[in-house]
Amino acid sequence: MKINGKAFRTIWFDNNIVKIIDQTKLPHQFIIKELRTIKDSINAIKTMEVRGAPLIGATSAYGLVLSIIEKNDQSFLKKASEDLVNSRPTAINLKWAVDRMMKKLTGVNSKEILNTAIKEAQNICEEDVNFCKNIGLNGLKIIEAIYKKKKDTVNILTHCNAGWLATIDWGTATSPIYHAHKKGIKVHVWVDETRPRNQGANLTSYELNEEGVPNTIIADNTGGILMQRGQVDMCITGTDRTLSNGDVANKVGTYLKALAAHDNNVPFYVALPSSTIDWKIKNSKDIPIEERNSEELSIVEGLDNNEKLTKVLIYPKKSKAINLAFDITPSKYVTGLITEKGVCNASKEGLESLFK
Ligand code: MRU
Repeated sequence: MKINGKAFRTIWFDNNIVKIIDQTKLPHQFIIKELRTIKDSINAIKTMEVRGAPLIGATSAYGLVLSIIEKNDQSFLKKASEDLVNSRPTAINLKWAVDRMMKKLTGVNSKEILNTAIKEAQNICEEDVNFCKNIGLNGLKIIEAIYKKKKDTVNILTHCNAGWLATIDWGTATSPIYHAHKKGIKVHVWVDETRPRNQGANLTSYELNEEGVPNTIIADNTGGILMQRGQVDMCITGTDRTLSNGDVANKVGTYLKALAAHDNNVPFYVALPSSTIDWKIKNSKDIPIEERNSEELSIVEGLDNNEKLTKVLIYPKKSKAINLAFDITPSKYVTGLITEKGVCNASKEGLESLFK
């Protein structure tokens, strides 16, 4: 998708260097950062220079490429794979991508291993682009149906950033929106600010602006009243881990939006590529929920009067805060899962009908 009229992807490989858009600096600064080592890759994931489930998966795949460039050695590669998997706990894509790479690299001799790794990391990225495009085409049908009935702008609420910045291109939750917009369907997006890191305001609104999609940022608590007033036609969010029973772990606050949607008969869809499905964990209580530094809550960053990025403390100095990054939305509140293979019920039967 585009930034300043120029098409970008979120990650690319150039001359043995991995390039990313530093998402901690958006929307105020557009900086392309170079990753040259496995340490750089792990740091980019931990500090959220790259974030979003599919993108951290792709970054970990390229992290393994960088580790081979650094030191073509099996034990170095194994340690790199373990460190990558442990760099963020909730999104399953990290483990999915690392496992896929390691399977591909097993038994490959040291002369061929680098090329094999580069090719597989590229495959993971290309596959994600295709998956996200198809999620868009499948979700488009839902938006089209609402538009045909309503004959007016379709208002869609989304939480966090499950946009192209969270993937390689297109996004998951935003892909149906981009497809609808390109088709001339009138859409407007309510963008949850998504405290504490403001991925909605900083990233989703930014990328929608760059593509010319009408959107309005709302405080995270505003969705409920908008739904009560009939101003939300549907919700679409992403997911970091989808259980085989249809429960989804996504950015904290997703659950509360799903509850409000349920109470107001607003359809609540979750968009996902199959790389976020965890077929192993059966109980959502077993999903590891990332707990991040509470300073992400108490310290905010923005432009000061001189357009300089500045950090300020907004809480009482003595107050404690807790920063859980994800929550679980039980499948009973999910109207449907929009995947690359089609839309299904958020249930074992639904997922198995598409992915068995
Ligand atoms: O903490 P983040 O910014 O990595 O969280 C991202 C989300 O919660 C997204 O909704 C999810 O990864 C799906 S991205 C297509």
